[in-house]
Amino acid sequence: MHVLAVFCHPRRDSFSGAVLDRFAQGAREAGHSVEVADLHAEGFDPVFKAGDFIQFEGGAMPPDVLAEQARVERCDALAFVFPIWWYGMPAMFKGWLDRVWSNGWAYHWEHDPEGSLLKPRPCTFLCPTGASPAMMQRGGYGADLDNLWRRGVLGYCGVKPIRIELLLDAAFDTGNGAHAAHLETAYRAGREIGA
Ligand SMILES: Cc1cc2nc3c(=O)[nH]c(=O)nc-3n(C[C@H](O)[C@H](O)[C@H](O)COP(=O)(O)O)c2cc1C
Repeated sequence: MHVLAVFCHPRRDSFSGAVLDRFAQGAREAGHSVEVADLHAEGFDPVFKAGDFIQFEGGAMPPDVLAEQARVERCDALAFVFPIWWYGMPAMFKGWLDRVWSNGWAYHWEHDPEGSLLKPRPCTFLCPTGASPAMMQRGGYGADLDNLWRRGVLGYCGVKPIRIELLLDAAFDTGNGAHAAHLETAYRAGREIGA
């Protein structure tokens, strides 16, 4: 398979970057090709502006959006690697969805989720998260994100199956083994994508 890994972190040498590397290693060792879309390094413009409403009027999409859509179209599997910021996706990644996953391409505005336009393909989220397992449990945020992303966002566009890995306790490497365990999770997710 050809895997598109969308990476969203301002620092390539971050822990999130290490997660990306381990995921890509696992996927390549499983025989897949991996293309990385590094949104910050590539300078993607995430701001949905007046011109982006053209998608609802049947007009031609901007070239930068078309280029991103072509990347998604040529992949057989997706991976999203970004840290959890304010219990959600970073604004840059959200903007990539806002602009690229457009009406008439990812979904049809008037359709219910079964009317989604993208062909099913596996998608893996790998999301370093500062919170501890106890904090996540108390707040119930994991279940909220799972529902929003699995059903509301990716499911709406026809992407499945979806694997969501919130890599907890990731803000600091305290030596408690969390970072090492998360890198192993990322590697396994790469090996197992599409399996
Ligand atoms: C702007 C910002 C917002 C954050 N919000 C949250 C949050 O809502 N919940 C959480 O558990 N961690 C939060 N964090 C912590 C990050 O998830 C954590 O630092 C990150 O996963 C570590 O990965 P990195 O070293 O690759 O940045 C936030 C960090 C930043 C910079």
